[in-house]
Amino acid sequence: MKKNKISKNWINKQRRDIYVRKSKIEGYRSRAVYKLQEIDSKFKIFKNGISIIDLGAAPGSWSQFASQKVKNSKILSIDLKEIEKIQNTHQIKGDFTDNKLQNQIREYFSEKVDVVLSDMAVNTTGNKNLDSIVTGELCIEAMNFAKEMLKYNGNFVSKIFMGTTFNEIVLKAKKCFKQTNIYKPAASRKNSKESFIICKILR
Ligand SMILES: C[S@@+](CC[C@H](N)C(=O)[O-])C[C@H]1O[C@@H](n2cnc3c(N)ncnc32)[C@H](O)[C@@H]1O
Repeated sequence: MKKNKISKNWINKQRRDIYVRKSKIEGYRSRAVYKLQEIDSKFKIFKNGISIIDLGAAPGSWSQFASQKVKNSKILSIDLKEIEKIQNTHQIKGDFTDNKLQNQIREYFSEKVDVVLSDMAVNTTGNKNLDSIVTGELCIEAMNFAKEMLKYNGNFVSKIFMGTTFNEIVLKAKKCFKQTNIYKPAASRKNSKESFIICKILR
């Protein structure tokens, strides 16, 4: 299929998508917000006064939701891309896998945090296997960091793709956390291999 035909299909799909329309009406930067909303209503991730790290945060709908939902929160949003300012959050632009950036996060909090979110995903290459492997590696890196940064009863929520790294990630999560769930919110597109892993209470 030609490139401009693919992008026309994408635009038409976006126009028809109820979550895209809803996000525009409600002032969210992305339809991804409804995935986090569903995860929170099922797994009770947010409460007032907590500290949150949002990895792969651009354009910013998860951070928008967290900052509205949680009173007196401390939220740090990180992405390779610039994130437009969101009230009550701090933004860092850079590669999360870079040690220097991870040190910046440690310095920003200087203590353990309550929630680590990761919606990080690489730009799709068209090769679904490759995309799921690279996104799986980002999930593992985020989980390692969460293990170090979270309080004992903290929560880790991450995008995970059905693919070759899936079992490895779930096994690792079960070793690190007492509760591990895999959940595909209704807002996650049916034809996408994406799901979310929700982990609670460190071992
Ligand atoms: C699906 S989008 C996130 C959407 C976001 N949760 C929201 O609600 O607006 C995935 C993001 O992951 C980011 N990303 C991918 N690899 C990254 C990395 N190594 N470090 C930081 N961000 C990364 C991409 O730049 C992209 O913006």
